Amino acid sequence: MKIGVLTSGGDAPGMNAAVRAVVRAGLTYGHEIYGIKDGYSGMINDDMVLLTSHSVSGMLSLGGTFLGTSRAPEFLKEEVRQIGVDNLKKRGIEGLVVIGGDGTYRGAMDLARMGIKCIGLPGTIDNDIAGTDFTIGFQTAVETIVDAIDKLRDTSTSHQRCSIVETMGRRCGDLALFAGICGGAEFIITPENPMDKEQMFKRLREHKAAGRRHAIVVITEKILDVHALAEEITEKAGFASRATVLGYIQRGGSPCPEDRILGSRMGTYAVELLNDDVYGVCVGVRDSRMVHLPFANVVGQQRPKNELYKLVKKIS
Ligand code: F6P
Repeated sequence: MKIGVLTSGGDAPGMNAAVRAVVRAGLTYGHEIYGIKDGYSGMINDDMVLLTSHSVSGMLSLGGTFLGTSRAPEFLKEEVRQIGVDNLKKRGIEGLVVIGGDGTYRGAMDLARMGIKCIGLPGTIDNDIAGTDFTIGFQTAVETIVDAIDKLRDTSTSHQRCSIVETMGRRCGDLALFAGICGGAEFIITPENPMDKEQMFKRLREHKAAGRRHAIVVITEKILDVHALAEEITEKAGFASRATVLGYIQRGGSPCPEDRILGSRMGTYAVELLNDDVYGVCVGVRDSRMVHLPFANVVGQQRPKNELYKLVKKIS
């Protein structure tokens, strides 16, 4: 079988491990694997290369995605998608492994309706995909954020300040939640765990009165202006405060072992599903086991509120 592989949406550490696994496992089973450049854009522009085992050597430790990525909004149009489908068919590519987030899955679901045998792998730092405990790239991003929080605490303590740390995550608070717990944050504010400002100011005043030299607030992006919040905390809680927006730094870097393993497992599993003529599904890991679900059960679905929130209330 000829199988295409692409990465799409925001890049995530471990995407390369997943592509490598698709290529190596695919070759092991006698398939031909084509790397599609820059996500769905490469399908439209017919930018695809035959990948060999050698093409993916040295890729395990590399951050980002060597295939390139894009958001390709034009792919939402059926006539544009048809160009991509024709390009695949021209080369005899029947199977397609897409690695990305919800937008990527939507594209794959549409392609599946147009006769392409699609498998989705969850690749995004946001951990916002239903049907999986973890997405590829999430755990590396958490490590990066924790490292930043540890460093911010050094300077906060020295100056007796409160540090506000804004993480990515879009509508999902998992980056802030996991990194906040690991970094010992006093407050974790996410879409799933909104803030009670007055309560926060009160607790910060108490911290200050008790002689605490620092406080850490971790907050998901797009909730509020963190610099304005820092000014408010300084004024109303009497705790000098500064905000740091981590931004794209949390998307880069060499994948941690968990993401290398997750990418490798998911890439291999995708090929095995195609071997068994199973497609139109996306892969997940649940309680350490590989699982797959139809795209329709996952696309646009919210993950349940994380159990760890119960812990936060007791230990922060
Ligand atoms: O989906 C991953 C992500 O990093 C989100 O956390 C963030 O909101 C978004 O991508 C940023 O997108 P872009 O790279 O298009 O600016």
